[in-house]
Amino acid sequence: MVSVITIDGPASSGKGTVAKIVANKLGFYYLESGAIYRALGFWVNKNVNGKDVNVDEIVALIDSMDLSFNDGEVLLNSEVVTMKLRDEYIGMLASKYGSIAEVRAKLLQFQRNFAKTPGLVTDGRDMGSIVFPDAKLKIFLTASASTRAERRYKQLQQFDKTATIEGILQDIISRDEQDSSRSTAPLSYDSTFELLDNSDMTVDETVNRILELYITR
Ligand code: DC
Repeated sequence: MVSVITIDGPASSGKGTVAKIVANKLGFYYLESGAIYRALGFWVNKNVNGKDVNVDEIVALIDSMDLSFNDGEVLLNSEVVTMKLRDEYIGMLASKYGSIAEVRAKLLQFQRNFAKTPGLVTDGRDMGSIVFPDAKLKIFLTASASTRAERRYKQLQQFDKTATIEGILQDIISRDEQDSSRSTAPLSYDSTFELLDNSDMTVDETVNRILELYITR
């Protein structure tokens, strides 16, 4: 069986950074599932242009997506969209469309296909609960909302100088609320997960803790 490590958690908990390093150290594949939902948000937005859109239309739009990941870049229908997907607005759309059960069902197999030998590290909201419930190690990675807002602020500084900590904190809180309260695949964990609060941990410490947990499985 392919070894899978899932790292779920709220926005800006550092899951992406940590998951990528863990994958690298173990020589495993890496899947950032949030990028799939962000690509969907971007694609729907581009195609409907502010108009109302219903579930059938969103599902049909998924069929018209040709999404691939190559060397850290995200390709959507031949366009490199990596940086465009990082926009906070696209994150909100990802969260909004990700709350639709039909959308999640449609994306399930696409995500599962990433589990290949020698292994996969993947991060998201429901990777341990729904997509890979039998993963070898399931982490729920979190940090305080203010720590997460500061981290996002630093990240955004590189390409969006207008962002403020207060604005980011509000976005984070409302996205957490939307992701945790939806009826399909909400952000949650249970006793099969390892809970890790990294508010006071460095990236290296978080990575080492996850590797330690993995090795002892
Ligand atoms: O991980 P992220 O911030 O890039 O994710 C953006 C949004 O996508 C998140 O707020 C909710 C949605 N998402 C999801 O519903 N399920 C996942 N497995 C990953 C992301």
